Amino acid sequence: MSEGPLRRPFAAITGLGVAVPPRVVDNAWFAERLDTSDEWIVERTGIRERRIADPTQTVADLSREAAEHAMREAGITAAEIDAIVLGTATPDRLLPSTACDLQVLLGAVNATAFDISAACPGFIYALTVAEGLIASGQSRTTLVIGAEKLSAITDMQDRSTAILFGDGAGAAVVRRTEPTGDKPRGILSTFLKSDGRLGNLLYRPGGGSSDPLSEKVLAERSHYLRMSGREVFKAAVIAMAEASDEAIRRAGVTADEIDLLVPHQANVRIIEATAKHAGMPMDRVMVNVDRYGNTSSASIPLALDQAVREGRIGPGSLVLLVAFGAGFTWGSAVVRW
Ligand code: UT7
Repeated sequence: MSEGPLRRPFAAITGLGVAVPPRVVDNAWFAERLDTSDEWIVERTGIRERRIADPTQTVADLSREAAEHAMREAGITAAEIDAIVLGTATPDRLLPSTACDLQVLLGAVNATAFDISAACPGFIYALTVAEGLIASGQSRTTLVIGAEKLSAITDMQDRSTAILFGDGAGAAVVRRTEPTGDKPRGILSTFLKSDGRLGNLLYRPGGGSSDPLSEKVLAERSHYLRMSGREVFKAAVIAMAEASDEAIRRAGVTADEIDLLVPHQANVRIIEATAKHAGMPMDRVMVNVDRYGNTSSASIPLALDQAVREGRIGPGSLVLLVAFGAGFTWGSAVVRW
């Protein structure tokens, strides 16, 4: 593994956009249907409501809406996009990729397009690949997406998971940057890591090619996501801490210099533990899990976009992105805005 960024930054985020379904589902909705309560959900997770897509709304639809906002902000046309890299755990179809469907919706005729399967850190994985495509000269302008319809793979009869997830999409236009000055804007560092040995703590047992969709799979409800919450929680706290440290070290900055931590929004208690480890007070941490729940790969761009709109990130801000999810996978990035 090569050490450190020698010529960074290669790439900068020049536009952001998000899309969420209009339907808001609050905790009371679950309390009416399952053995749970608003108090339990808020206390154990920090979630108050989430967005749920209607059955006809696809991941590609949500991605398109988010992408069009980001492209407008970046001032680019679809023809200028050289690559679409889309992180998702809930592709619309298993073949072809949702990125290829999005390419058609956008009319991005000059792009290569592919999905990344990295669960919750999907946006950070896609951002890292986008930076690599730009650094290698394959792309000047890359559209990075994190988009999910988790409601399609959530067992609404299982109180331990049903209350956690939401649907949404976020997009970033990432462009080649010509560094200027002693503090150039752009992606200063990235860090990715996985541990597949722990895969069965958060997974979908059925519906893939090892156990194709069948009457048995449907009867066992094994096409839905299953999670050993407590074990995942513990692993998330450790991995998010490692990822924060690594991105900061690789960027050659200190935690004190980070203006805003934008962590994956799975559980406010994991976010607080991550902030505590990094020595960052909560007023330098973006939290919107209360509004959207856990939207997996969409969670970082949803939080990042809100932070920018609220003026918590501006030109020159140093931002730390950190996420953890199924695989297990984890990753991070430090970006100068
Ligand atoms: O996004 C990628 C990764 N995902 C995560 O990071 C999620 C990580 N895990 C978590 O956020 C938490 O583990 C959960 C929020 C999922 C669960 O919170 P917890 O504090 O770890 O609860 P627990 O699983 O240890 O369960 C405690 C109790 C259990 O009852 P008993 O065995 O103590 O009687 C559960 O059955 O809470 C019960 N419980 C619930 N009670 C009311 C579980 N879900 C619910 C619920 N409402 N919805």
